Amino acid sequence: MEEYHMTDIHMHIIPGVDDGSFTIDMSKSMITMAYMQGVRTIFATPHSGAFISRKELIQENYQKMKEQTKKFPFGVDLFLGSEVRCETGNIHETLRYLKTGTFPSMNRTKYVLTEFRNRICPREALKIISLLRRDGWFPIIAHVEYYPALFLSEVIEEILNYGCLLQINAYSLEEEAEEAAFERARKLLLEQKVSFLGSDAHRMNHRPPSVKKGLEYVYKHCTKEYADAVAFGNAEKYLIN
Ligand SMILES: [Fe+2]
Repeated sequence: MEEYHMTDIHMHIIPGVDDGSFTIDMSKSMITMAYMQGVRTIFATPHSGAFISRKELIQENYQKMKEQTKKFPFGVDLFLGSEVRCETGNIHETLRYLKTGTFPSMNRTKYVLTEFRNRICPREALKIISLLRRDGWFPIIAHVEYYPALFLSEVIEEILNYGCLLQINAYSLEEEAEEAAFERARKLLLEQKVSFLGSDAHRMNHRPPSVKKGLEYVYKHCTKEYADAVAFGNAEKYLIN
């Protein structure tokens, strides 16, 4: 059996703060499940809205999770980020929250895990991206395969030209995935435009941390060099070192 090594940059693993894990025990089960599939480094990325009212609780529960992971019989590293919801109507407020650190970037880098509404149009996305870039942030577009309008004409190229990086969900590469999302994720991957895989795991019974089939797909259809970059190399390069 192939041994994988992965950094999951998108997990709702901090208990009791958003619609992700409910309890520390559930978070521990999720981390164990991820580890068994090859995940060695995790970015805890609560929805940004949670940081407005529950910033202290997030910090507290993040520290608790870090303590817990140290006690595990296996090694998993945990870093903090946030899945930052960006909409035209709230972008200036969002930029302020990023500047003050209320919304954490990925491990305090210039990279921001950026989420849009599903029906975002290209003009709106490019406007938001240009404002983030103006303030020095590099958006990592979260589960980019779920924004169909961004796949029209050359929009993805424009987004990449801004210096954005793209994350796809590992489960979008599973056979059971929604076909359109699978096609979009697959196309980007084969064109080597994807930088990161994430699980976007929420709970054990709702979007559990399932990355194995996605990793298998990546290693089967891409060069080893590119697969390694997507699985862990880019995370090390941009977000950790
Ligand atoms: Fe998410």
